[in-house]
Amino acid sequence: MKAVICSSYGAPDVLTLQEVATPHLKNNEVLVKIKASAVNSGDVRVRGLAVKGFLRVVMRIVLGFTKPRKPILGTVLSGIVEAVGNKVTKFKPGDEIFASTGFQFGAYAQYIALPQNGTITHKPKTASFNQAAAIIFGGMTAIYFLKKAGIDTKPNQQVLIYGATGSVGTAAIEIAKHYQAHITAVCGEQGVELATKLGSHEVVVYTKQDFTKLNRRFDVIFDAVGAITHKDCAPILKQGGKFVTVGGLDVAKETTQQLEMLQQLYDNGEIHANIDRTYPMEEVVAAHQYVDTGRKKGNVVLQID
Ligand SMILES: NC(=O)c1ccc[n+]([C@@H]2O[C@H](COP(=O)([O-])OP(=O)(O)OC[C@H]3O[C@@H](n4cnc5c(N)ncnc54)[C@H](OP(=O)(O)O)[C@@H]3O)[C@@H](O)[C@H]2O)c1
Repeated sequence: MKAVICSSYGAPDVLTLQEVATPHLKNNEVLVKIKASAVNSGDVRVRGLAVKGFLRVVMRIVLGFTKPRKPILGTVLSGIVEAVGNKVTKFKPGDEIFASTGFQFGAYAQYIALPQNGTITHKPKTASFNQAAAIIFGGMTAIYFLKKAGIDTKPNQQVLIYGATGSVGTAAIEIAKHYQAHITAVCGEQGVELATKLGSHEVVVYTKQDFTKLNRRFDVIFDAVGAITHKDCAPILKQGGKFVTVGGLDVAKETTQQLEMLQQLYDNGEIHANIDRTYPMEEVVAAHQYVDTGRKKGNVVLQID
């Protein structure tokens, strides 16, 4: 099969398309023919070993010292079950699925073997494979952090989403809307239209207005890009209000329940794929170059098939 191989940490051109063996299927696994993946901020961070200080050492220990131990990057995918191991009961050949592989990676490839009890479920019926692949990374992260902040405990909360136009931020707007929050989005000028279209009630442009001087207080402030601190937000947090950030040491825990929630919300029309650009697998270097800019709006799809 064809796969994108990451031969060392570095600039996007460390990625090359190569012919490798198709994975062997174990008893409890499904073999998936991958249709689409996505190039996410997490992928480019791993490829470039783009963290500072002590975390760089931790990342080398976890992922491999001089190059990724698992050379096929990519953590999200949609595709079709091609074969199942003899102990698999949840899926059958022909099922259309979407999945997240987390630190197992392996999604920039034509095939992957996944445990049936991994983070995998049937894809939304109304989503194309590209759309299904696009909603996973930001959607799961937004669900994790917004629930951590108690978004699901009561309706009508005042929620501020900082960095509202990335993969996580766009998903956060729609997830918060599902929980009937009143949403204030903070983003750059180019993102105003998108943040408004997704359901933000107010939009603050960070180059024009200091959001920490807003004349209102929030139940939840979600930093979806890792650029602000709890201290920055203290003046506009209600007493007992929650500040959560993607920028700390907390790594979003991924569950199949989150995927199932995304599936339902997508089919109900409550969330969208927000695809900025789509690249064929052969153009993975260009896709990584674009995501490296840190300026993408929503999601970048890597079309495999
Ligand atoms: N802890 C975790 O478990 C976890 C999980 C997932 C992601 N993350 C981290 O979360 C961050 C965001 O992920 P992502 O996938 O959403 O990234 P992304 O899609 O690459 O984010 C790009 C967006 O961020 C906006 N942005 C960049 N800098 C900004 C700033 N200083 N203020 C406001 N907006 C800004 C950009 O808008 P403008 O161009 O208009 O500024 C752009 O639309 C990444 O650092 C990622 O590593 C952490």
